[in-house]
Amino acid sequence: MTTQLTIRRPDDWHVHLRDGAMLAGVVGHTARQFARAIVMPNLSPPVTTAEAARAYRERIVAAVPAGMNFTPLMTAYLTNNSDPADLVQGFREGVFTAAKLYPAGATTNSDSGVTDIMHIQGALEAMAEAGMPLCIHGEVTHASVDVFDREAVFIEQVLEPLLRRIPLLRVIFEHITTQEAVQFVEAAGDNVAATITPQHLHINRNAMFAGGIRPHAYCLPVAKREKHRLALRKAATGGNPKFFLGTDSAPHAREAKESACGCAGIYNSPFALESYLTVFEDEGAIGQFEDFASRFGPAFYGLPVNEETVTLERLEHEVPASIDVGAAELVPFHAGEVLHWKFIG
Ligand code: NCD
Ligand code: ZN
Repeated sequence: MTTQLTIRRPDDWHVHLRDGAMLAGVVGHTARQFARAIVMPNLSPPVTTAEAARAYRERIVAAVPAGMNFTPLMTAYLTNNSDPADLVQGFREGVFTAAKLYPAGATTNSDSGVTDIMHIQGALEAMAEAGMPLCIHGEVTHASVDVFDREAVFIEQVLEPLLRRIPLLRVIFEHITTQEAVQFVEAAGDNVAATITPQHLHINRNAMFAGGIRPHAYCLPVAKREKHRLALRKAATGGNPKFFLGTDSAPHAREAKESACGCAGIYNSPFALESYLTVFEDEGAIGQFEDFASRFGPAFYGLPVNEETVTLERLEHEVPASIDVGAAELVPFHAGEVLHWKFIG
C-alpha cells in the first residue's frame, strides 16, 4: 500500500481569495499547497481592468504569509462594457492570465456580469486572436430554467454557439458538474478544457438535504445527481489532459452560509489535495494524480510545470469543525470527517 506520495507542486486553476481581512485569513491555505492559482475577479466591485488587477495582485502578494512561495494569476471580470484593448494589453503585459465570464446573476457578486454574450463578441474575438483564455461559469440564469439543468442548458444555448462563432477561442469550462459537460469537453477541440472541484467529486445533491438542510454543501453550480458525480470522477481520474484541478474554494463566514438566504460556496482550500487524493485512491488511480493536479493545467495554459515537489502521507486526521481565520469563522469542506491522507509540505 502506498504510504507516501510525492508529486510536482500543484496549481489551483480556480480559487476565490477575496480581499482585505478575509484575503489575509485564507490566502495561506492556498499558498501552502499550491504554487500558483487562477484568482477569481468577483470582488465587490469586480476586477474589470488591468489596473485593478495589478493592484489586487499586489494586495494578494502582500498577504501571503512569510516563507510561502505563491504566484497569483489574475483574471479580468468581463462585463457588457469590457474594453477589448485593455484586456488584450493586460494579457500581453502579463497582468491577466485569462478573462472570466460570469453570466449576470449566476452566482456570488455576478450582478455586473454579462447579460447577453453577444455584447462581448468583440472582446472574445480579440481574446481568441491574442490567445487569451476564457474561463466560463457555465450556467444560464433564466428563472424559468430549473437550477439543476442550468449547466446542460448553457452548453446548448451559449457554449456550442460561441465555439461555432469563434472556433479557436481557448475555453476553460469551469467547475463542471454534469455528464453533459464531461461529454461536451471530451468531444470539443483541444482548445477546450474543464476544471473539476473536490466537492463535485465527493458529494451529490443529496448532501444538501441529509437529515435537514445543509448550507455547507451548497455551492454553484449546485451538486447534481449521483450519475453526474460518477461521470466527473471518471473524467478527473481518467488521464485525459482536458480535465484538471480547480478547487473553486469560496469562503463565506459561517453566519453568511447558515442563513435564511445562505451564500453559495464551499471552503475547501485547507485540505484540498487530501480531498482530491482520496478520490484518486478510491478510483484506483493514484498514478494519474500528478497529471491532474500538476501537469495538465500548466499544459493547457501554456505555462511551465512547477519544479518543486510536495508530499502527502497516509495519516488519519480529523478535519476541524470550523477554522477561525481572524476575519471570520469558516466551516471547511469535510468538517468533522476523517481524512486518510495528510499534506506534509
Ligand atoms: C463562488 C463565490 O462565492 O464567489 N461561489 C460558489 O458557489 N462557487 C462564486 C462561483 O464561483 O460561482
Ligand atoms: Zn468560483
